[in-house]
Amino acid sequence: MTPSAETTWFTTDRFGMFVHWGLYSLAARHEWVKHRERQSDERYQLYFDHFDPDRYDPVRWARTAKAAGMRYVVLTTKHHDGFCLWDSDLTDYKATKTPYGRDLVEPFVAACRAEGLKVGFYYSLIDWHHPSFPVDGTHPQRDDEEFKAATADRDIRDYRRYLHGQVRELLTRFGRVDYLFFDFSYADRHWWGGKGPDDWDAPELLGMIRDLQPHVLVNDRTGLPGDFVTPEQYQPAEPMTKDGRAVVWEACQTLNGSWGYDRDNLDRKSADLVVRMLVDGVSKGGNLLLNIGPTGRGDLDPRDAAVLGELARWTELHERSIRGCGPSPYTAPADCRYTQRGDRLYVHLFAWPPRHLHLPGLAGRVRYAQLLHDASEITRVETAPGQPALHTEMGGLPEGTLTLQLPVQRPDTPVPVIELFLTHAEA
Ligand code: GLC
Repeated sequence: MTPSAETTWFTTDRFGMFVHWGLYSLAARHEWVKHRERQSDERYQLYFDHFDPDRYDPVRWARTAKAAGMRYVVLTTKHHDGFCLWDSDLTDYKATKTPYGRDLVEPFVAACRAEGLKVGFYYSLIDWHHPSFPVDGTHPQRDDEEFKAATADRDIRDYRRYLHGQVRELLTRFGRVDYLFFDFSYADRHWWGGKGPDDWDAPELLGMIRDLQPHVLVNDRTGLPGDFVTPEQYQPAEPMTKDGRAVVWEACQTLNGSWGYDRDNLDRKSADLVVRMLVDGVSKGGNLLLNIGPTGRGDLDPRDAAVLGELARWTELHERSIRGCGPSPYTAPADCRYTQRGDRLYVHLFAWPPRHLHLPGLAGRVRYAQLLHDASEITRVETAPGQPALHTEMGGLPEGTLTLQLPVQRPDTPVPVIELFLTHAEA
């Protein structure tokens, strides 16, 4: 199978929402809680028995995502704990068997579609509940010798059938799916008893996916190349490449280091920081998949919602510096990021300089300049080549420099943006 899906919508949209939600949301201390605390199935069952998200409102999730500028939403249909949010025929370990008693995926899909958002499913390749998933270093019972002896004959082929069957369900029951995030392969982590593409039979799996929904974008974590690569919790230093060629990439990022709801974790990112991460990614040709961790009752964490609210205010006025934009061939000055779309070059100011911003190589190439949030003109100055710096006159600037005259007051927004109308679309 070769990656073949059409990625244009993805690289145009640029910004999506990741939702980690499941039984671990009740523990409220990270989605790996079962692994970290070496919880047995009996212990973890408490969350299943108390799962009753009476405030689940995917319409609110979708509207919040849309307002924040996100154009696709990716939901954990099954995380590593094996719990399924949809009414799978292949297991009883699913939402419909909990006190809540209803399928959670269908209303999610309907809400996304109603808001015009693309639909993404996350599916964990790892499964700490399935009786045929061979116990390895990721497993909660990894140190339980008795348990390991009793489960030594587990056959990954049984699990693989289940995995393929579940992916088939996800791609045949909910209409068009735009995006799949598999998580994850670790064939090279021998100390973990690694699993990878051979264990999942990734070629067969991807073939089935392409048969069922040829357009769907698939990530690279089955262990085979996918339609995009997935840097996790870091911002790439430059546009990502493979064998010297640019690749489609999407950074997935948390708001506090944890994916699942983590009540007492206060290591929270500010909206300012998140806007800078989004801009930084687009300036390097990448997407941002920003995660939220709703509570066990299904509410957005108010702290997540507050950041999304601030993102919405920024996006409302600055959307066009992100949507459909990518890297610019021009080199941005210090503390700035450029994004470009055709003849529009967007200067994002991560720091606000006193009065003047010098843009190398742009002299004679800009027709008009304005602050994006209020369309107020920004005046431009070009100093004569060779002009020395004098007492009250600027100079000493490299030939080709365009200087923008900024107001003293920095606009009150996480990242101010100047929109430049170039004389030509290309450098
Ligand atoms: C990691 C974690 C997982 C999380 C994922 C998101 O692979 O195992 O908990 O869902 O990253 O990208």
